Amino acid sequence: MKLRTYPDPILRRRARPLKQIGQDERKKLHEMLEKMYENEGIGLAGPQIGWSVRVITVDPDGKGQRKRIFINPQILESSGIADAEEGCLSLPGIRSNVQRSDKVVVSAYTMEGEALKLELEGLMARVWQHEIDHLNGILFVDKITTAEKLHVREKMRSLSDSG
Ligand code: CO
Repeated sequence: MKLRTYPDPILRRRARPLKQIGQDERKKLHEMLEKMYENEGIGLAGPQIGWSVRVITVDPDGKGQRKRIFINPQILESSGIADAEEGCLSLPGIRSNVQRSDKVVVSAYTMEGEALKLELEGLMARVWQHEIDHLNGILFVDKITTAEKLHVREKMRSLSDSG
């Protein structure tokens, strides 16, 4: 399983909901966690490993103690505005300021099928928004200002050329 990077077309596809979790799915979900740690990420979405389904893995401190897998995650409510710099394992070497909601209310299922509803703010709210964007074919560079787009344009072009 290879980490998919820009401009891989799977990153632009809308991922489908995960309907059932069998052995294959379990294996892929654990591979997602492994890939996330291998690359020192704090979040990863299915499409980033070439799996176009609505699953995300999250670990706010990247140390493994608080790692979580969320199935069919959704944002129910969002409020406030926050700016912070982001990067993405699928856009190596690119970082930019991204404006997002500061607080979100989200829902998802666990691997065991338990329904969750969580209120998140700050970094966790940001990670969820970033990962859910991935499930909708959106990358963080789609959300940055024109000036910032000019700034990252060269790096994106070199990713395109090497891809
Ligand atoms: Co990303």
